[in-house]
Amino acid sequence: MKKETQIVSVGRDKKWSKGVINPPVFRASTVVFETIEEMRFATKNRTNGEMFYGRRGTPTHFAFQAAIAELEGGVGTALYPSGSAAISGALLSFLKAGDHLLMVDSAYEPTRDLCDKMLKGFGIETTYYDPMIGAGISKLIQPNTKVLFLESPGSITMEVQDVPTLSRIAHQHNITVMLDNTWASPINSRPFEMGVDISIQAATKYIVGHSDVMLGTATANEAHWDQLRENSYLMGQCTSADDVYLASRGLRTLSVRMAQHEQNALKVANWLATRPEVDHIRHPAFDTCPGHEFFERDFSASNGLFSFVLKKGNIKSITAFVENMAHFKMGFSWGGYESLILGVFGIDKLRTATQWDSSKPLIRLHIGLENPDDLIEDLSHAFDRYNQELAD
Ligand SMILES: Cc1ncc(COP(=O)(O)O)c(C=O)c1O
Repeated sequence: MKKETQIVSVGRDKKWSKGVINPPVFRASTVVFETIEEMRFATKNRTNGEMFYGRRGTPTHFAFQAAIAELEGGVGTALYPSGSAAISGALLSFLKAGDHLLMVDSAYEPTRDLCDKMLKGFGIETTYYDPMIGAGISKLIQPNTKVLFLESPGSITMEVQDVPTLSRIAHQHNITVMLDNTWASPINSRPFEMGVDISIQAATKYIVGHSDVMLGTATANEAHWDQLRENSYLMGQCTSADDVYLASRGLRTLSVRMAQHEQNALKVANWLATRPEVDHIRHPAFDTCPGHEFFERDFSASNGLFSFVLKKGNIKSITAFVENMAHFKMGFSWGGYESLILGVFGIDKLRTATQWDSSKPLIRLHIGLENPDDLIEDLSHAFDRYNQELAD
């Protein structure tokens, strides 16, 4: 089945939807039983799509979990109240005091903060590694290394990792491989075929797709599902049925939205590449992006999120660029239908395994579903303001 068809058909088992198209919102804490036998049955099957207690989920959750697990290619999906909770939930399900974690240097900033500010206090040591390290990862493995965490492409700087090589080496040492797969979404890569054990989505982004819900998913293969599910449950992770309903709704249009985001972003990125002010484009589909060859090999498409680096600039000129845009708004997050712009400062301070030259400013764009010609015009005015500021 092709992805577009799958997106429409996954998670629509009649047992959850009761025959309507979208599995409805089941809100629940208590679930009541008439007999001991009924209660026993629910207890026995509580991890298998039977209603037991609200925290274990309702048909709204089960339908969405089945959909994501199938799209990602794993056996089960745990739900979390945000993408960050999915990352911490997955890490804490597989790490304990005395363990060692290998974390990519280009990780999403709160992921890095989790390692430095919380895991450290729990006695879990983190070593950061160069996203382009490839087979060189073997030199960083210690006897107590338990998890190798990847994010591909990396946040802001967009390095694409060699996921199959990293996974293969990790497995030779019995290390669990986790991937923040948010950029690919569940349709543009095949994490489990590349050897990943747990694939994480900030569903807040493209799955929800409308910038109105926070949600996270972690999908595991057979070997990791029981531990992920049970430990996340023990940590009390659960999500609102209303939010999950909106995510299920967003999911159905994921493939058409993604295709349009990609087309619009490529048009804008190609135009940016012609601008004399631009040093290079950090879009995985461009050969100026580190790891572009892995994007070509491992991804089926791109989306609306990429960065570009300017040859020069300072806080004043970047402020002139990003303020007063007609269509791009400044805001964190991405994956909604709207265009966003971020001038990113201080990347060098977030790196320990690699170096970043902060003398060249970086701007990150999320290209939404507007007409790209309007977005290009908006950016063209931004360059005028930036050049004027540099000339003053
Ligand atoms: C790559 C990536 N992973 C995880 C997250 C965290 O997701 P959430 O905002 O839902 O916690 C983000 C948010 O920007 C992200 O960009």
